Amino acid sequence: MVDSTRPLPDAWWRDAVIYQVYPRSWADSDGDGIGDLPGITSHLDHLAALGVDAVWLSPFYTSPQNDAGYDVADYRNVDPLFGTLADFDALTDRAHELGLRVIVDLVPNHSSSEHAWFRAALDAEPGSPERARYIFRDGRGDDGEFPPNNWQSTFGGPAWTRTEKADGTPGQWYLHLFDPTQPDFDWNNPEVQEEFRSILRFWLDRGVDGFRIDVAHGLHKEAGLPDAPAEYDIATHATSVQPMWDKPEVHEVYRDWRRLVDEYRVEGEDADRILVAEAWVVPDDSLAKYVRPDELHQSFNFGYLMTPWTQRHQRESITNALAATAAVGAPQTWVLSNHDVPRHASRLSYDIDRPTRILGIGPDDPQPDATVGLRRARAATAVMLALPGSAYLYQGEELGLPEATTLPDDVRQDPTFARTHGEDVGRDGCRVPVPWHADQPAFGFNTTGKSWLPQPEVYGDLAPNRQDGVAGSTLEFYRRVLATRRRYGLGCGELHWQDLGEDVLAFTITADGGRRVQVVTNFGDTSIDLPHGELLVVSGSLDGHRLPTDTTAWVAPG
Ligand code: GLC
Repeated sequence: MVDSTRPLPDAWWRDAVIYQVYPRSWADSDGDGIGDLPGITSHLDHLAALGVDAVWLSPFYTSPQNDAGYDVADYRNVDPLFGTLADFDALTDRAHELGLRVIVDLVPNHSSSEHAWFRAALDAEPGSPERARYIFRDGRGDDGEFPPNNWQSTFGGPAWTRTEKADGTPGQWYLHLFDPTQPDFDWNNPEVQEEFRSILRFWLDRGVDGFRIDVAHGLHKEAGLPDAPAEYDIATHATSVQPMWDKPEVHEVYRDWRRLVDEYRVEGEDADRILVAEAWVVPDDSLAKYVRPDELHQSFNFGYLMTPWTQRHQRESITNALAATAAVGAPQTWVLSNHDVPRHASRLSYDIDRPTRILGIGPDDPQPDATVGLRRARAATAVMLALPGSAYLYQGEELGLPEATTLPDDVRQDPTFARTHGEDVGRDGCRVPVPWHADQPAFGFNTTGKSWLPQPEVYGDLAPNRQDGVAGSTLEFYRRVLATRRRYGLGCGELHWQDLGEDVLAFTITADGGRRVQVVTNFGDTSIDLPHGELLVVSGSLDGHRLPTDTTAWVAPG
């Protein structure tokens, strides 16, 4: 028996770089305008050439697609939109052949309202075992006409929807922290717990290497479902002050799951199956609780993702994050972009005195400066991929794709847009299908030219065929960074800060065998001298021999 509380010090996931594929938008093999599993399989060699360790697939399960697949109707099947279970097996086999591990998404906080359990719950009586799998309550007020509490949905509007009885009169309410078509499970119910153990085993037995756990901080709600403090917004204040987030009981779920995935460990093999939390939790030490030795392997560091682009903020954010996970013996998990936030090539163009755009950038917002955004994004990526720990990349960032900020209202599909009546444009701008070839229909996304969201013109210029082998392109920059990170073992290194002034972020990473790499980012307006040594990586063009603004260099000290 392998001791599950002792991860190997050099287990693969501790410094892995994991690439997120959003199946709708990566590659479309059947030309219907929506990406699919065979499309993904046919492009996996792009990831092997990029130099990542694993691929994480956002949901591809049976779903009415009201929240792009994060509304699951059958956890053990593939939606026909994306293919079949056989297509999934072919994808996994091909990935493994290429040396890539496969992480799938698990959505345990809620199901789709089309899930057989929820349909049965609607047909059943209050107090029935069918209803007990979800969170049904009577309303407040004389006739139960008011929701059971004041919680708001993350996507806008109330977090409760009232049901109708068979005779058409109003019935109980059910809780949905997201869309009304995403009813929350009751995680106190042993049947729910057992069902998810079984779902984990279903995919583990099919050979997946891990799970990204959706809304990992939301499974348990505060007992009694008390009103939320009025001054906090559910979407932006995901802390334990809220009765729906980060409750101590969630950790019991993860201890249980850790024991389960550890049953799949093989003595002497670096083949851990991993669990990574999507937990929008602050502060750092609350987040670190999710990666205690007997819990999850990784937890995305969203505090880092949201850190403003200044030397002081970056240094403070990295320092605090490393200290928090070191205290529990876990590596950090860095991320700059995903399918829920504006791409960092656009987000980072905003100065600190502008609001950090997390909730989407629309046509009426101040538009990002593409040149500044991409320069900073590459500089930030070069910082992130030097840091000790693992890192997640989001599809298309290796091409320098900007956010699509001018999508017309009538193509928007994120429920956030409708539920906030357009106040928040939502997340479609980072979900636009990626380009593969500048001169093909839909820039090579498929052969028909259909695309479920329209692609900005600039995506053509950024297609891989325009960047492949082109010195200085974003794609070649990512390849070089990843190869150098691997060669020096930076992800398992140790960070030491250097003080080079208010405008310069500088640290060394000491990796295996005492080899050192110095990392320097210039946040100031004027160019600075490069450190002495061999220049391994630079995120932009040099100014003669000097490092310009918003540029990061890696140097092997001479
Ligand atoms: C997570 C997903 C997001 C989804 C939500 C509800 O935050 O990343 O895309 O809308 O959960 O499942």
